[in-house]
Amino acid sequence: MDNALAYTDSNFDQFVDELKDFLRIPSVSTDSSRAGDVQKAARWLADHMKALGVGKVEIMETAGHPIVYGEHLVDPAAPTILVYGHYDVQPPDPLELWDSDPFDPQVRNGDLYARGSCDDKGQLFMHVKAAESYFKTDGSLPLNVKYIFEGEEEIGSKHLPQFLSDNKDLLAADVAVVSDTALFGDGVPSITYGLRGLAYVEVTLQGPSIDLHSGVYGGAVHNPINALAKMIADLHDDDHRVTIDGFYDNVIDLTPEERNTFASLPFDGEAWVQEVGASKSKTEKGFTPLEGTTARPTLDCNGVWGGFIGEGAKTVLPAKANAKISCRLVPGQTPEEITDKLEAHFRKHVPETMTLTFTDLHGGHGALTPTDSNAMKAASDAMEGVYGVKPYMVRSGGSIPIVADFKRILGQDTVLMGFGLDSDAIHSPNEKFGLDRFRAGIDSIIRFMSLFSRSN
Ligand code: BES
Ligand code: MN
Ligand code: MN
Repeated sequence: MDNALAYTDSNFDQFVDELKDFLRIPSVSTDSSRAGDVQKAARWLADHMKALGVGKVEIMETAGHPIVYGEHLVDPAAPTILVYGHYDVQPPDPLELWDSDPFDPQVRNGDLYARGSCDDKGQLFMHVKAAESYFKTDGSLPLNVKYIFEGEEEIGSKHLPQFLSDNKDLLAADVAVVSDTALFGDGVPSITYGLRGLAYVEVTLQGPSIDLHSGVYGGAVHNPINALAKMIADLHDDDHRVTIDGFYDNVIDLTPEERNTFASLPFDGEAWVQEVGASKSKTEKGFTPLEGTTARPTLDCNGVWGGFIGEGAKTVLPAKANAKISCRLVPGQTPEEITDKLEAHFRKHVPETMTLTFTDLHGGHGALTPTDSNAMKAASDAMEGVYGVKPYMVRSGGSIPIVADFKRILGQDTVLMGFGLDSDAIHSPNEKFGLDRFRAGIDSIIRFMSLFSRSN
């Protein structure tokens, strides 16, 4: 382990240069015109892993973007980890808000700016570089490692559950390890033991069959934008609770111990929302912002469109109004259940003047993992070794739906050891990853591999 840590120390600049090469490939999974670049990123990653010594590396095709599979088995008696990450990235738009080209990585003030630097190319690369550090010093790894790096996380991991079911033996491991979450704060280490799920839908209200003159028809024909705006507004009550029937039925409540722990964390919810320009927090009554964002289900309208939005005024009574709406779910709730309840709600409340189209876009389950496993202890000790303090156990409000599938299909719990920050602007302009965290991540993974190899 010490040799591997020393190797990282002397080769860190080289690691950063290689990461920059990886980040230059615009592997935007949602953009079909970038499909060739997604392939290219898979190939780059596979070639890189092969070159540094991973025993077996394969690009495995799916009906969508490929999966980079790697395997380095050292001893059947040693524990096995399954490392997961995603090499696809979000679209970079709006481009004009970037201070430098999203696919021309630049270091400014110790932060590496590029789309995917934090989410998730930079973080998956920490695992690759940790392995390299062992290969180049000890000639091998302390335990068995399998890697799956997918290219469809940002579009819902459509083909990955099937891949897991089809390859159960290949993917057998003691635990899954994922670096695709955030630290609790800068210099404040944490391990994530909970993720939220997701139910994402689109609704359209149609009134008249064509756009109308609002002077001629306004007063006799119901306006779909007015109607949809009211339906959206009615999705929350005055306590900021979601009004959909049965929405909270299956929520697994926070335990009193969790609430105490949450309250003791060094976190100022009001300051945190003010950092992003909000004047005041808005949370379901009875819960703190930290609870509200990580352990309570929420509903957000993600986009709404319709009618005239061009320059100047046009007196139109539009035919249609549309909205994209998503719910973050907590363990206990399922995307199917919540999508059904959303649909029932919209069908029940749609005014008789409108027809409703309701489309299920995608969903994913939340996850909760035990905090007292050997793997969690090894991860905690590893991060303590790097940061000098024990990491907090936290829940995250984001979603990585495949984590629930690791449990359901492969029977594996997941250690979520991520090194992002909320301020890394993932999915936003000027995404970045602090090089000190890239470094701390590699060191933590090196330590984790060694500690976990000895823990069984
Ligand atoms: N890495 C994120 C999830 C994440 C972000 C976890 C911050 C913890 C903290 C992941 O790439 C992501 O963006 N997930 C999507 C869901 C997916 C189904 C599109 C999300 O959370 O919106
Ligand atoms: Mn991610
Ligand atoms: Mn993401």
